[in-house]
Amino acid sequence: MGQFLTHLESPWDGSRHEARTLQTTHAGRPLVARYDLERIAREVERDSTYYNAGCLWSFRDLLPVQDDRNIVSFGELATPTLQLARLGEQLGLENLFLKDESRLPTGSFKSRGMSVAISRAKELGVTRVAVPTQGNAGGAMAAYAARAGMEAWVFLPSDTPEVNKLECELAGARVVEVDGLIGDCAALLREGQKLFSWFDLSTLREPYRLEGKKTMGLELAQHFGWRFPEVVLYPTGGGTGLIGIWKAWEELSGIGWLEDPRAPRLYACQSDGCAPIARAFERGERTAEPWQGAQTLASGLRVPSAIGDFLMVDALRASGGSALGVPEASITGWMRRVGELEGVAICPETAVCFEALVRLVAQGRIQRHEEIVIFNTGAAFKYVEALRAVPRAERPRFRPGDSVDWRALAAQFERSARL
Ligand SMILES: Cc1ncc(COP(=O)(O)O)c(C=O)c1O
Repeated sequence: MGQFLTHLESPWDGSRHEARTLQTTHAGRPLVARYDLERIAREVERDSTYYNAGCLWSFRDLLPVQDDRNIVSFGELATPTLQLARLGEQLGLENLFLKDESRLPTGSFKSRGMSVAISRAKELGVTRVAVPTQGNAGGAMAAYAARAGMEAWVFLPSDTPEVNKLECELAGARVVEVDGLIGDCAALLREGQKLFSWFDLSTLREPYRLEGKKTMGLELAQHFGWRFPEVVLYPTGGGTGLIGIWKAWEELSGIGWLEDPRAPRLYACQSDGCAPIARAFERGERTAEPWQGAQTLASGLRVPSAIGDFLMVDALRASGGSALGVPEASITGWMRRVGELEGVAICPETAVCFEALVRLVAQGRIQRHEEIVIFNTGAAFKYVEALRAVPRAERPRFRPGDSVDWRALAAQFERSARL
């Protein structure tokens, strides 16, 4: 298994790099994994039961790990693609779906990237890892590192959601808070790295987290009968999710496994509290200027400057989609609305996609009949601070023996239903 990895490539300058040794970046830009797609087409059977096993590692022919014994996994089951029929009806959309990544180990899609990156790092002899994080990547890295028996260091902004800090500590990681943004965390990491030689698992500073994220696209295509839906909306920070989905389309096209070769239109969704990719896209630029004063409840999207900016912009353009930053104030309302209508607890990052969707439909850039998939990238329950800000009814409280005015109580809830 995993014998199809051939080399690493810099998408910035096209240079070719060795994949058998530990690699980071080239000239400050990401390296991506390349496979022998022709040989996969000849030797791997797409419809084997193996491919339909319904978990991330069933795709291991398209992943970099060479020896199965190095796989570090909690059983990353394929996530469901749920039709949002009630919300779709309200919005006048016939085919609205949510791919629910909150079911994954550690409650976010970050487990995909970390399962693959930690497995490959183990294979290449790494024993100590570190990451600067907005929260979920740290939680995932801490858990996979614990399972692999690696030492883990997590650097996070001090205003990261509390649950993220606690989950890292629960998994035995050394958690360092920084009064700053993710770039400040990365700077501190690099300072400590000189002494401790941690392997840096920062977004796109090693090639294999992206490979794990790619499995979101592979699963999506498999779910739709080996083709992609017309539209994908993705909450975008560092960009590996979005870039990974595009890489899945490119590789599946290259192998010839798609029943319908059309690419999905990708939309990168950001909050206007931190929207560097949306701004670069609107300006027609390929790289993004750092965003000043980044602030958003959608903590995973608070990435003022992304090393993979050009990969995102290239993918968005090639797909025929775009990027947009939507009002921060819309986040909590969408968390409530999706929860109330569909029972799904979406994270604040995903909430921005719903606001973006409504705007894109109003602009005529997404058609009402199209198949639309939004990714719920994380579990709302990890964001206690954001949940407290979600509009809700005043919660009544009684002592045993109190007399209750039931009609008044019902009226109170009725009013809150119109929040
Ligand atoms: C829940 C959630 N959604 C989306 C993102 C953004 O992901 P990416 O960095 O792949 O763009 C993050 C990143 O931290 C996240 O935690």
